[in-house]
Amino acid sequence: MSTVLVTGAAGFIGSNFVRLLRRQRADVNVVALDALTYAGNLANLADCCDGPHYRFVRADICDSKAIEPVFAAGVDWVVNFAAESHVDRSIHGARAFVQTNVGGVQVLLDLAREHDVKRFVQVSTDEVYGSLGATGSFSESTPIAPNSPYSASKASADLLVQSYFHTFGLATIITRCSNNYGSHQFPEKLIPLFVTNLVEGRKVPLYGDGLNVRDWIHVDDHCEAILAVLDGAAPGSVYNIGGNCELRNIEIARRILSHLGHDESMIEYVKDRPGHDRRYAMDIRRIGDELGWRPRIGFDRGIVETIDWYVNNEAWWRSIKTGDYLKYYEKQYGAGGVVGSDP
Ligand code: NAD
Ligand code: TYD
Repeated sequence: MSTVLVTGAAGFIGSNFVRLLRRQRADVNVVALDALTYAGNLANLADCCDGPHYRFVRADICDSKAIEPVFAAGVDWVVNFAAESHVDRSIHGARAFVQTNVGGVQVLLDLAREHDVKRFVQVSTDEVYGSLGATGSFSESTPIAPNSPYSASKASADLLVQSYFHTFGLATIITRCSNNYGSHQFPEKLIPLFVTNLVEGRKVPLYGDGLNVRDWIHVDDHCEAILAVLDGAAPGSVYNIGGNCELRNIEIARRILSHLGHDESMIEYVKDRPGHDRRYAMDIRRIGDELGWRPRIGFDRGIVETIDWYVNNEAWWRSIKTGDYLKYYEKQYGAGGVVGSDP
């Protein structure tokens, strides 16, 4: 039986990926690893963490000593989601971003080499390409030109990953995906922040003129693409992943407002994010042509289901907004320290 190590498994995309794996691949052992930072939430894994083929490890990917036993026990594939992921936080302080997104990746790459891992998938982002004008899109050969400390740290990791393929022959694959939406996203990101604010009767903060464009993809489509990559990608390859769904932020706000019965008076235009990338758009032909993957969930359906998920799972996001989910970890593991042991 193959073993897949999923790092960052208690976050938004990692937990959705574990859910998909457990649903579709009864024949793999899943080791879900996460440091449980502010963004990691064990509740995200509550419905897919049972049985003999699942194990959770709390550990920091920067901590080689804590992670080594996991690799020593046998890992065939690594899918690395673990990262500091919020651009605004990276503007307030870049240190944790460099530590985890670059230093942590180096630790994982070294352990993967030492323990003969067969495939190492680095989950990267379209943000490494920088910002576009009104036309054009990013292809896999677009030069990397990141603008935020977050995207710079992810781009640095991509370069490091490529170097381990070229220098050591480690079977790495990099995926660069656009903006994800769906269930279990931390409510500091645009869509869950706006939905939960409105449920609480608060306004939604739109940066700048609200005309920045993102390409949106449902998290399930992203996770399916990663499975396709695990199955079929050649070592050393890079794949763009996207939803073919470019929208301005104001349009996202309007969809949410209208579904929840509000008008635009609930929008509060706030100071723009420094260095705010204007537009992202993805050319996803390579993954379609080579691996046969295409996004399946249309935005009209996906956004309504997503809004309804947050409305129907108020306890989930309320415990985050009040910080109660962190108190649970403190009780389980002690305040602060990250430990490399099973719960
Ligand atoms: P997230 O912030 O929801 O989850 C990140 C997870 O990583 C959390 O559970 C956190 O506890 C864990 N983590 C952080 N530092 C760690 C460390 N040092 N050791 C172990 N675990 C650690 O982020 P997400 O939105 O799920 O993003 C997952 C990955 O996908 C990231 O690498 C991100 O760059 C990438 N990505 C995200 C998007 C998006 O739209 N959210 C798009 C493209 C790529
Ligand atoms: P975000 O979800 O932070 O993703 P990213 O910056 O990685 O694309 O933001 C998506 C877009 O929404 C981005 O253009 C910034 C904007 N935004 C707001 O206008 N208001 C907000 O409160 C947030 C969090 C984001």
